Amino acid sequence: MKRIAVLASGRGSNFEAIARNVKEGRLAAEIAALVANNPEARALDIAREHGIHAISLPSKGIGSDTYAAMVRDALQPLNIDLICLAGFMRRVGAPLLEAYPMRILNIHPSLLPAFPGLNVQQQAIDYGVKYSGCTVHFVDAGLDTGPIIAQAAVPVLDDDTAETLAARILVEEHRIYSEAIALVLSGAYRIQGRRVIRTAG
Ligand code: GRF
Repeated sequence: MKRIAVLASGRGSNFEAIARNVKEGRLAAEIAALVANNPEARALDIAREHGIHAISLPSKGIGSDTYAAMVRDALQPLNIDLICLAGFMRRVGAPLLEAYPMRILNIHPSLLPAFPGLNVQQQAIDYGVKYSGCTVHFVDAGLDTGPIIAQAAVPVLDDDTAETLAARILVEEHRIYSEAIALVLSGAYRIQGRRVIRTAG
């Protein structure tokens, strides 16, 4: 069974969706650890409730490369195949990117390359787009720039607030993240330039 580690900073609803899909047999993987950079993260409680190894590794005041090396060293004995960022609010430093080349995924609540960064649901509303959505992508050294594995679109409604739009997008996040993880773990894809192309299993 392929082994994944999930990195989170807060609420942990994407992590919980992944854990539920694993538990209920919809995602063939083992979650070997949940790492939280914020000791208050609810994701840590969710991990404990699911019997998943919970690692609290505070990042406050630590530079991103130093912190990335700490995460790398914490994961090293766990033989991780894939790292999944799920609401992880720190940039991933070079030591972790180098240890897991094209083996780190992220979920982002917009249709990249539109609206990278933070507060993107409000940005989508303010810009006036009629559709937004979510993107699962490989993590590279840029901000939300790596090759795109999966996307889902949702309409932006005239009376949306950032909260109502975020909630509509989150439903799709919970669905496509596990699907993207399954694809990457299956190895049935190749990367051509920026394009992630499915291949026969
Ligand atoms: C999600 O919207 C995710 O796309 C973004 O941060 C949020 C995390 O939510 N990167 P949760 O912690 O998974 O509930």
